[in-house]
Amino acid sequence: MTRQMHLSAFLLAGPVVHSHAVWRHPETHGHYLEPEYYARVAETVEAGLFDFLFFADRLAVGDQMGGSRDTALRHGAQDATRLDPLPVLSYLVGETRRLGLGATRSTTYYEPAHVARAFATLDHLSRGRAAWNIVTSMNDSERRLFRHERHLDHDLRYDRADEFVDVACQLWDSWAPAALKLDREAGVLADPDAVRAVDHQGEWFRVEGPLNIPRSPQGRPVLIQAGSSGRGRRFGARWAEAIFTIHADIPAARAFRQDVRRLVVEQGRAPDTCKVLTAVMPFIGGSEAEARAKRDHHNALARPELGLITLASQINFDLSGFTLDTRLETVARDPRTPVAAAEKLLYQGAQVTLRELGERFASSVRVPQLVGTGEQIAETLTQWFEAGACDGFVISPGYLPGSFDEFVESVVPHLQRRGVFRSAYTGSTLREHLGLIEPAHRERR
Ligand SMILES: Cc1cc2nc3c(=O)[nH]c(=O)nc-3n(C[C@H](O)[C@H](O)[C@H](O)COP(=O)(O)O)c2cc1C
Repeated sequence: MTRQMHLSAFLLAGPVVHSHAVWRHPETHGHYLEPEYYARVAETVEAGLFDFLFFADRLAVGDQMGGSRDTALRHGAQDATRLDPLPVLSYLVGETRRLGLGATRSTTYYEPAHVARAFATLDHLSRGRAAWNIVTSMNDSERRLFRHERHLDHDLRYDRADEFVDVACQLWDSWAPAALKLDREAGVLADPDAVRAVDHQGEWFRVEGPLNIPRSPQGRPVLIQAGSSGRGRRFGARWAEAIFTIHADIPAARAFRQDVRRLVVEQGRAPDTCKVLTAVMPFIGGSEAEARAKRDHHNALARPELGLITLASQINFDLSGFTLDTRLETVARDPRTPVAAAEKLLYQGAQVTLRELGERFASSVRVPQLVGTGEQIAETLTQWFEAGACDGFVISPGYLPGSFDEFVESVVPHLQRRGVFRSAYTGSTLREHLGLIEPAHRERR
């Protein structure tokens, strides 16, 4: 069989996704505090045979720009408001049968046992459809919400994350696969010899287990990650089974995927055990002109000042001291700009102005917008896929549920006709959808 593309639907449990226009777009129906809003999307993308639905998350109302939350709250920046995605996923378990269900949890502000319990539970209730996006968190507002003394430095956050995931895996492995007996006749609930104690004394965590949850159908949730820095990529290469990324074109995406695969091999893993999924935001019309008009209408609803607020939140740096006509090279060279923020800004292009970047972030947080008929979009996705730029896509909506309705109706059939996307689910777990094997159960050390 030809190599198969994977599809993930991208959401936040909030009014704004990558698009800051979602909540105010006339084609958005329902809103983010209503369960039906999510159920409707899940139903659509499951009918479209997507691998999984995914909820990104950050934890706090951002106030990086000028130390104020006012504009973010008044008009809707990405970090103004959102629900905790895990209870949303628990609700969706009952609304779906095959669709994978993924969400972000931070290794900086949670404990391994929180995450291990929550995702083991989700994996059981969904019969093996859970995924965890491992993030190290980004900004000072999150630190203050959790009353941490200071925001850990970038690489230290990844050091902590390495140990965090190791401990979570020890907890998930603490019950051997057949430890739960439920033998009513003999009155035996579980085999205590098959439940191993965890005694972890590390640099960041001291954890005594075992978990109080039996091994889940996938052994552990599918592990996702989205780092792009050198340290982030090394972390991803060690743990991730899927990596989210954003690239403007095929050469950049292909170079990233090749680097990830090289790093995965360095970790002693087979390269195909880590799927690289790149984000796109499609606007689909009956003609190219209609699709372009849809994109332009959408982008006109996204306020540039919100884009800059979201950017400031992501780079943890206040950009309000610069005028909108300032070029990024000037911002990056300014002594007030931290090195890490400067690097992230320059990545967007030295000559770009803050105004242009604000527009770009407001409309799609730099996720490339694709415009065309269903067939043209399918053609573009196939080109990226066949050029080795990715193993599949993160589909980011401009309005809900319409963006997914259109994609499933008019792009998926063309992908199927080309033989690059499934015509039916063949497995029942998310690992099966993604072509990943269950991790071996690690015995007592
Ligand atoms: C598609 C995508 C989804 C992401 N989702 C989240 C998220 O839910 N929460 C979060 O804090 N960061 C999220 N990130 C950011 C990454 O976790 C990471 O912090 C960022 O890419 C910078 O990584 P680096 O410091 O290794 O360069 C996402 C990134 C991408 C590309």
